[in-house]
Amino acid sequence: TKQKLWGGRFTGKTDPLMHEFNQSLRYDQRMHAADVAGSIAYSKGLARVGILTADEQKKIEEGLRAVDKEWEQGTFKIQADDEDIHTANERRLTELIGPLGGKLHTGRSRNDQVATDMRLWLLGEVRNVEKGLKDLIRVMVERADKEKDVLMPGYTHLQRGQPIRWSHLLLSHAFSFRADLERLQQLIPRISVLPLGSGALAGNPFAVDREFLAKELGFESVTENSLYGVSDRDFIVEFMMWGSLTMTHLSRMAEDFIIYSTAEFGFITLSDAYSTGSSMMPQKKNPDSLELLRGKSGRVFGNMAGFLMTYKGLPSTYNKDLQEDKEPLFDAVDTISACLPIAEGVIATLEVHADKMRAALTMDVLATDLADYLVRKGIPFRETHHVSGRAVALAEARKCQLNDLTLEDLRGLHEKFDEDVRAVFDFEASVERRQAIGGPSRKMVDRQIAVLRSAIAS
Ligand code: ARG
Repeated sequence: TKQKLWGGRFTGKTDPLMHEFNQSLRYDQRMHAADVAGSIAYSKGLARVGILTADEQKKIEEGLRAVDKEWEQGTFKIQADDEDIHTANERRLTELIGPLGGKLHTGRSRNDQVATDMRLWLLGEVRNVEKGLKDLIRVMVERADKEKDVLMPGYTHLQRGQPIRWSHLLLSHAFSFRADLERLQQLIPRISVLPLGSGALAGNPFAVDREFLAKELGFESVTENSLYGVSDRDFIVEFMMWGSLTMTHLSRMAEDFIIYSTAEFGFITLSDAYSTGSSMMPQKKNPDSLELLRGKSGRVFGNMAGFLMTYKGLPSTYNKDLQEDKEPLFDAVDTISACLPIAEGVIATLEVHADKMRAALTMDVLATDLADYLVRKGIPFRETHHVSGRAVALAEARKCQLNDLTLEDLRGLHEKFDEDVRAVFDFEASVERRQAIGGPSRKMVDRQIAVLRSAIAS
C-alpha cells in the first residue's frame, strides 16, 4: 500500500486538491541530477561513519544512478503520491533496491537536501549563463574591432551630442556585460556553500563529514550554522538580482538598437533572422527580438521581487513558503539563458549603415570642439562655450552649417579665431583628439577591445 514518506503519524488522507497544491515535482524534477548527485555523496558520507556498509553504499549508489537514468531517458514513472523530486527519487530507489533504500535518508531532511539541490543545480546553470555572457561579449568585441572606421553621432537626451565611433557605442554596452560577468563570477563562492548535513534544522547526529560531502559535490565551503543552512535562500535572491540587472542592460541596449533601426534613424537594419513581419502591413519588418529582450527584463525583475516578498516574512529555518523559490528562479534562469544567445545573434547579424550614420553627423556636433579650439588658445572654457554657442546660433539664423561661417564671421565673435580653425570641422579628427583612456579614438577603442578580450579569455 502506497503512503506518503511522512505518513506514519497520519490516519487521514491528503485531500487531492491539497496534494496538487503542495506538490512541486511538476517543476522541481528538472533538478533530478542534482538530487541524485547529492544523495550519492550523502550515501558515501553515511558509509564513512558506518551507517551503511560499503556494499550497501554501492547498492544505493547503483540504484540512484538507475533512477537518474530513468529521468534522462524519460522513462521515470511519476506516481500519484510523489510530492517532489526528493520523495520521488527515494520512492523509486526503494522500488529498485528494496528496503535498503530506506537507509539513505538517515540523518538527512528534505530541508538540507533541497537547499543542497538548489545550490548544486544553480551552480551548473551559472556556468552556462557565464558562457552565454562571454559569447555575447565576444561577438560585440569582434564587431567593434572590424567596424572602427564607422563614425556616428553620440547622443545625450537622444539629441546629437558629439561624434563617436560606432565601435565605441557597441563597446559601451559590452562593458556593462563585462561588469555583469564579474558580478556573476563573484556570486559563485556564495552559491557554492554546502548545506547538506544540516538535517531538518539541528544538524547531523551521525557525525557525517560535511567537508567530505562538499568535496564530493564540488562545493567550495560548508554552511557553518545548521539553522542558516536550511533557511538561507539569499543565493537565489542574489542570482535574480544579478539577473534583473543583466536583463536591464540587455533591455537598454535593445532600446538603442530599436531606435537606430527605425527609418527615421536608419543606422542599422536587423537581419531577417531576428525580425518578424506584420499580419496586416506588408511592408513591416519589426524588431521583435529586441523588443522581447527589452520586455523580458520586466519578468526577471518580477521573479526577483516576487520571491523576495515571500522570503521576507519567514521565521527561522524551513517553512513551506520556501518551495516558492523554485518557479521564479527557474524562470529567471530560463529567461536569461534564452535572451543571451538571441542578443548575440542580433548583434552578429545586424547590418550597419555607415553612410546613414555619417549623414547624421551635422557640423553642430563639433560645437564643443570649436569651443575647445579657443581653449587651446588660452581662453577660459566658460567664455569659449558661449562664443561657440553664438556661432551655432549664427549658423542657425543663416540656415547654414557651422563650417560655412567665414573666418570674418568667427572673428566677429572672438578675435582669437584663425585660419587653423578649419581643422576643427573634421569628425575623424574630433574623435581622434579624445586620446584619454575611455575615449573614442582608435587607440582607446583598441584598448577597450583588449580589456574585454582578456575579461572573456579565461
Ligand atoms: N519540495 C520542498 C521544497 O521545494 C522540499 C522541502 C520539503 N521540506 C519540508 N519540510 N516539507 O521546498
